[in-house]
Amino acid sequence: MRPDSAAPIGIFDSGLGGLAVYQAVRRSLPWENAIHLADSGFAPYGDRDAAFVEARTCEMARQLVDAGVKALVIACNTAAVVAAEKLRGLYEIPIVALEPAIKPAVAITESKVIGVLATHRTLASVAVARLCRLHGEGMNIILQPCRGLVEQVEKGEMQSARTFELLRQFIDPLLQAGADTLVLGCTHYIFLTRQIRSLVGPQVRIVESSAAVARQLVRRLKESRTLCDINPDPREEFFTTATSMIQAGAVASQLLERLVEVRHVGQRSLKCSA
Ligand code: DGL
Repeated sequence: MRPDSAAPIGIFDSGLGGLAVYQAVRRSLPWENAIHLADSGFAPYGDRDAAFVEARTCEMARQLVDAGVKALVIACNTAAVVAAEKLRGLYEIPIVALEPAIKPAVAITESKVIGVLATHRTLASVAVARLCRLHGEGMNIILQPCRGLVEQVEKGEMQSARTFELLRQFIDPLLQAGADTLVLGCTHYIFLTRQIRSLVGPQVRIVESSAAVARQLVRRLKESRTLCDINPDPREEFFTTATSMIQAGAVASQLLERLVEVRHVGQRSLKCSA
């Protein structure tokens, strides 16, 4: 049975970085009901092995599918490069997944030196190797793992001295190597765009995939004829596996720049208020 167009879209990430994708989806699809699920209780994924990431990704997807979503957005590069294909084999609903924006970066670089900031697990993936092979001819694509940055965003410490220290440590070598384009290959880093801009100056291009994923979602919903184009009262629900709802709500509100309530996801099911 085809899901109802009023069914929500399910968006999930290892943590609160998925909210950057949630915002892009909301801009493109303001009428949709949507659920965002953050696996902050198990973040970061990026330093874990692929089996762990796959298991958590499957669990997040299952919770959302059980809640009746009509489409899934994997708003986490790490989860997507490890488990998107597996999920597509499990579910028939549209599944849209991020990948680091290497192709758009190749299209705009002038120096032909590109820095890709992402988690260790993303950068070690077959998917990133394939992107570099497909688009990297004549390019110097430098893969820079950024251990510790996801934790800073999860804590809401986007402006702290430690965050700037980490950013300098990761970005300075890329600039020294001549990079004129940086790819933010982790959704958490999208919330550090202003801080990165202040370090690299106005000339360096910063690219990420959230708007492209939102466009792809629109296409897939149109194809499956489940796009919701009129809805007087769009619902939004924010869930997490974190233990402190006060902390989760405070950081989510800080990232979205408006007050939101975050609820704990039960062990067995997501309960959405009607
Ligand atoms: N937001 C996730 C991504 O895009 C972060 C992964 C992590 O938890 O390390 O890769």
